[in-house]
Amino acid sequence: MMARMTSPNLLLLSFSLLACFLPSPCSSSSSGGEKEDGTKIKGMFVFGSSLVDNGNNNYLQESMAKADYLPYGIDFPLGPSGRFTNGKNVIDLLGDQLNLPSYIPPFTNPTTKGSRIIHGVNYASGASGILDDTGSLAGQVISLNQQIKNFEGVTLPDLERQLGCKSSESLPSYLIVVGTGGNDYTFNYFMRKSSINNNNVSLEAFTVNLITTLSAQLKRLYELGGRKFVLMSLNPIGCSPMVNARLPMRKGCAQKLNLAAHLFNTHLKSLVDLIKPHMPGSNLVYVNSYKIIRDIIKNPTSKGFRDASNPCCEVASISEGGSGVLCKRGGTTCANRTILVFFDGLHPTEAVNDLIARNAYASNLQTQVYPINVKQLAQI
Ligand SMILES: *[C@@H]1O[C@H](CO)[C@@H](O)[C@H](O)[C@H]1NC(C)=O
Ligand SMILES: *[C@@H]1O[C@H](CO)[C@@H](O)[C@H](O)[C@H]1NC(C)=O
Repeated sequence: MMARMTSPNLLLLSFSLLACFLPSPCSSSSSGGEKEDGTKIKGMFVFGSSLVDNGNNNYLQESMAKADYLPYGIDFPLGPSGRFTNGKNVIDLLGDQLNLPSYIPPFTNPTTKGSRIIHGVNYASGASGILDDTGSLAGQVISLNQQIKNFEGVTLPDLERQLGCKSSESLPSYLIVVGTGGNDYTFNYFMRKSSINNNNVSLEAFTVNLITTLSAQLKRLYELGGRKFVLMSLNPIGCSPMVNARLPMRKGCAQKLNLAAHLFNTHLKSLVDLIKPHMPGSNLVYVNSYKIIRDIIKNPTSKGFRDASNPCCEVASISEGGSGVLCKRGGTTCANRTILVFFDGLHPTEAVNDLIARNAYASNLQTQVYPINVKQLAQI
């Protein structure tokens, strides 16, 4: 027996057994992981669409959904970066609330590897959705399924090398943030609906399919080791300037789009409760950015805003060959970017992102964040 103990395999085994009892670099209590406010989050892995994309589409040759030019980033410390807003996006601002030491790097940047990934990676891709075929009209996107594959196949092996432990041990100290689904409606369901060859799927059936697909994707992230999830609701997409640009005579919000977003959100909020028993040891938080933005739009001045209907930047219209969504390259912006709700035809200004991040982190209203806030999630 003793002689056999020296075999390399057993030696390895005894080392790894020993490692279980030593403070591992993965445990959140070591290496100063716990912060003053009791939170112990090391970083974030971010999945989703343009609301949370921080530059992944910059590296996609064929993508038309890019924000790597001015006036995007006009208020961002590093200038235009691919974020679809004037300054920080909601992920940057959530990172500020969590006191993360740096911005989360975008996956497609070739330098996103090695020591740069220890505070997380952002996989989100503008114009993408839950379904693989959402975003095809934007030329090239990274679907949510592919984002998860990138996390699994590229990042996790690298992270294990960096931290010297299994990702199942380290991932509980990271938030898994998912913000997606709006494009599945605006650039898939409603566009298919208006085309002649539509397959007549009801909104309810389409929504159930989206939630079922998302539920499987969340379970996959759980199987890979994710334990702390933050799920962003859809925004009130019917209130975005893009919609008014298409129907110039109409005032207020497009009910059809808002109803779709609301239906999705209702299912998403229920999913938080329904999926938990299937993911033992996990915790999920639903952030109702829909409500937070809707409250601003209903009474902008009460929240310090003056204009909740016009885009701050000059938007390239469809007749000009634009999308009606994105800012014109090198176009002008509004004079005071802190008092407008929308930066372009679809995406909120940094000022709105900041309100969403603050409420996500610390609000005690379950209508805004359910069933607990991100700060409480971070303390678990
Ligand atoms: C589409 O479905 C709805 C209800 O499911 C039905 O009322 C409508 O007639 C259908 N339209 C077409 C073109 O089949
Ligand atoms: C923008 O508007 C806010 C609110 O009216 C004001 O406090 C701020 O000074 C303005 N900023 C600029 C640059 O004009």
